[in-house]
Amino acid sequence: MKATSKTQLRATCAAIAALGIGVSVAQAEPKTNMMHQWAQGSEAAAIALLGEMYEAAGGIWEQTAISGHTSNTLAKLRSDVVAGNAPAAVQLKGPEIAEWNATGATANLDETAAAQGWDDVVAPELLTVMKPTGSWVAAPMNIHRVNWMYSSKAILDDLGIDVPKTWAEFNAACDKIQAAGKICIAHGAADWSDSTTFDSVVYGMDQELYRKAFQEADLDALRSDGMVAAFAQLRKMVGYMDDGINGRSWEQSMTMTMTGEAAFFLMGDWTVASANMAGFKEDVDYVCTQSPVDWGGNGFILNSDSVVFFKQNDPDYVEGQKLLAEIIMSPEFQVTFNVAKGSIPARTDVDLSEGGFTKCQQKGLEDLKASVSEGTLVRSMAHNMTVLQKYRGAMMEVITEFVADDSISPEEAANQLADAVELQM
Ligand code: BGC
Repeated sequence: MKATSKTQLRATCAAIAALGIGVSVAQAEPKTNMMHQWAQGSEAAAIALLGEMYEAAGGIWEQTAISGHTSNTLAKLRSDVVAGNAPAAVQLKGPEIAEWNATGATANLDETAAAQGWDDVVAPELLTVMKPTGSWVAAPMNIHRVNWMYSSKAILDDLGIDVPKTWAEFNAACDKIQAAGKICIAHGAADWSDSTTFDSVVYGMDQELYRKAFQEADLDALRSDGMVAAFAQLRKMVGYMDDGINGRSWEQSMTMTMTGEAAFFLMGDWTVASANMAGFKEDVDYVCTQSPVDWGGNGFILNSDSVVFFKQNDPDYVEGQKLLAEIIMSPEFQVTFNVAKGSIPARTDVDLSEGGFTKCQQKGLEDLKASVSEGTLVRSMAHNMTVLQKYRGAMMEVITEFVADDSISPEEAANQLADAVELQM
């Protein structure tokens, strides 16, 4: 402990006790430096809450925010590890968790997990991701749903359009919206956001195809007629976007829908956080529904943010990892963070009718349960939850090229998708 500090120590103990966390204040001074992708807006605001809770519990909080999307964070992680400077804590997802665990560089969280009873409370859908070989490697912060569609209330009302439920209904609505001089789809082009849209298209058209192509990287599925049809739908959708998609952020696209400039925005529920922050309201400015599906059920494309800890020699950082893991899994953090992030808790024992969760978030949880019971749940390719980054990167490159270049035919795109993935095998 630093010299200041009987009062500080008392405050620390009180804060830890208030969190219900059983950390003994030992010799080491818990500290961390968490690497993550949340550099601005509602995302930076949400992660700042973790920093506040960490400091309130007596830890020293530092963060390294890598702007851009997940790929940038993954690249920075790789170069830091190679340089012998592995981060104490990093936001890491999906199969990358297992991959880094297999290198032996990550810390084992079983002791903390047992002390806090993680096995009893973490959503079962997350377990194989967080415990790739049976031991806890990652602490899950949330569950995000990727296949949301936000509709402009003003446009729906003005044009007397119902929220489309299938892709045919979606196209018909877009024809009507364009004829009325409005933009149908708000979009900001980037590899991950183009792929987010395509996640919803492939899944909504054919969930089996989604599983084979995007979860298993099956080359025949990637090259199949179903994939050609999905690219044809995406081509149509690019035609429903305006000319300004390049260089537009997802937050700007969200605003276009909330303010009635564009009718639909296909994006994950981090949108809810950003909309709340900007003061837009559900059922007044927008409605949230699942993106269209042609198979008539409840669908859920799952994404989850989680934190992995790399082995450290400095006892302060080691102690800091335990404290961070405990805070992340505390019910208090799971409420505070997820209310601010637009997501739903990774713990199943949190009551979403309390604590400030919105109706969209509550619906997210209901739809998750329905999707699990209907057997329709998939993980998101666009958000690193299925195939390794090398395959995801190859897929995203083809998808984003297709959005950018309308001379590429759907048949060519499906072949390119399969070829690009095959090259990485
Ligand atoms: C992350 C979210 C983030 C979103 C947009 C997703 O891949 O899981 O936490 O808000 O990307 O940046």
